[in-house]
Formats: sequence, C-alpha cells, structure tokens
Amino acid sequence: MATDLKVIGVIGGGQMGSGIAQLAAVAGFDVWHHDSDPGALTRATQSISSSINRFISKGQISQGAGRDAINRVRCTLKLDDLRDSDVIIEAIVESEDVKKKLFSELDKIVKVSTILASNTSSISITRIASATRRPSQVIGMHFMNPPPIMKLVEIVRGADTSDEVFATIKALAEKFGKTVVFSHDYPGFIVNRILMPMINEAFHTLYTGVATKEDIDTAMKLGTNQPMGPLALADLIGLDVCLNIMKVLHQGLGDSKYNPCPLLVQYVDAGRLGKKRGIGVYSYKKEVPAVKP
Ligand code: NAI
Repeated sequence: MATDLKVIGVIGGGQMGSGIAQLAAVAGFDVWHHDSDPGALTRATQSISSSINRFISKGQISQGAGRDAINRVRCTLKLDDLRDSDVIIEAIVESEDVKKKLFSELDKIVKVSTILASNTSSISITRIASATRRPSQVIGMHFMNPPPIMKLVEIVRGADTSDEVFATIKALAEKFGKTVVFSHDYPGFIVNRILMPMINEAFHTLYTGVATKEDIDTAMKLGTNQPMGPLALADLIGLDVCLNIMKVLHQGLGDSKYNPCPLLVQYVDAGRLGKKRGIGVYSYKKEVPAVKP
C-alpha cells in the first residue's frame, strides 16, 4: 500500500515530470528525478523551487516543509540510481517506441517489487507493459497540467494490472491530494478522448478562417465557461504533445475525424511547440525594448 512506499522515481524533467517530482517530495517521499538531458534537470530544479516558493508565499505550505521538500529531490542523469524506487512514474516524450524501450530497460534495473507507472496521455498501457516481464505491475497514472495545481489523476489499468497495484497507485494519488478517476485502456482514456478532438477542431476553425485565434479562445472561454480557450490550452500542453495524442487517437480508433489538423502539423514542423518554446499559436517571447539612439 501507499503507506509502505518511501522512494519515488520520476523520469522526465519536462513540465509534467518536474510537477510530479514536486508533488511526491511535498507528500514526504524521497525522490530520484532522472532525465537524459542535463539542461532539463537544471530547468526542473528551478521550476520546482519557484513553484514551492509560490506555495510558501501564499501560506499553503510552511517555509520549513517547503525547504525539506526541495531537499528531498535528488536529480540524476543515471537511470540506475532509480533501482531502489518503490514506484517509478515515467513522464518522457509521448512516443510508444521510446516509452517501451525505457520500460524494458527499467524492468531489468529495478527491484522485483517496483511498480512502473506511466503518465502517458494516450498510449496503451497494455502495450507499454508488454515490454516488461512484470505487466501486472505496470499502470497508467495520468496527471493533468500543471500537476501541483490540477486536482485530477486518471488511473488506467492495462490488461494485466493487478488489483493490488491499482489500489496502491490510487492511494498514492490520494496522498498527493488528488481525486482519482478510473479509465479502461482505450486510446486517449477519458480526458484526452474528449479534450483533444475539441482542440483539433479549434485548429480547423482557425485553419479554415472561421475566426481569429483570439475570438476562438474568447468564444470558448466565455461561451462555454472554460478557464482558457482551446488554442491557449494547446500552447500550455505543448503542440507536439497534442499532435502525438491525435495520432494515437487516429491510429487506435481508426476514424478520420481524429485526423490531425494540417495547421497543427505545420506548427509542430516549424518548431512552434507552445509556451515551452516561447511560441505556438501565440507568442510568449518578451518584447525587447528598442534601444534609443
Ligand atoms: P516535455 O517535452 O516537457 O518533457 C519530456 C522530457 O522527457 C524532456 O525533458 C526530455 O529530455 C525527457 N526525455 C525524453 N526521452 C527520454 C528518455 N528516454 N529518458 C529520459 N528522459 C527522456 O513533455 P511533457 O509535456 O512533460 O510530457 C511528458 C509526458 O506526459 C508525455 O507522455 C505526455 O503525453 C504526458 N502528459 C503531458 C501533459 C501536458 O499537458 N504536457 C499532460 C498530461 C500528460
């Protein structure tokens, strides 16, 4: 059960992995945080510190507890350092091949009892689990962005995930302060099965010249009471992540309605990946003031 867990490994130092590492540390776990890119770990450390400091300044966590949480996260470039983790939560790129390769490698490194969880947005847990010799201990643990703020975790059971592993991961998500929903292992699960076609449709609406990006977002914000419009949300999620999810829905469900919008494809081809790159549908680059002669 979650009460027996002490060490959590988090793989991926991007926007999701850093948020998950923060949650685990704040909940009192020792955390090993791995990424293959040293720059990502540096950015993750900065992002965890500044996020925890924001919680401290709002009085939502004490200064001492915040400092302790920051100190509980150990960053490493060596996957092997995660071998004694009780649970590993993977949050690397949304590619089935890359995830399977990682899970196969992890399976050989970690202790027999370790649970391997994936934060995948849409990829089959059953297929990821098939890359290991422990499919009963592989599960989907899908956090929302940003993990420290968003209240939901979608738990996805693969074909062989055991009841015990499901109960442990549910209790762990609750220890992180999250509400849990359960989804069967179908492309996109619950949230992205519904959200991504809406985002893709917003791209089509822009692509076919129905309205400007600002009006599309304002219409959906004020017209359907959403905190942000679908194009701004796509920028927050990452346009590459959105495109990969649409491809999984299209391949997995075989319906042309899930075909990614050409404009979304073009933005990704151009490197306009959203907020994380400073430009997506919108530009987030700070204007450099003109130098006066
Ligand atoms: P990101 O692009 O911000 O970060 C991915 C990180 O993984 C990078 O730092 C990269 O260096 C690292 N990485 C890639 N391959 C690796 C490997 N083999 N070993 C170690 N590190 C590796 O991506 P983001 O947005 O954090 O997404 C990660 C996962 O979370 C994806 O599966 C995505 O679908 C899922 N997700 C994303 C959400 C979002 O809003 N962006 C929401 C919920 C889930």
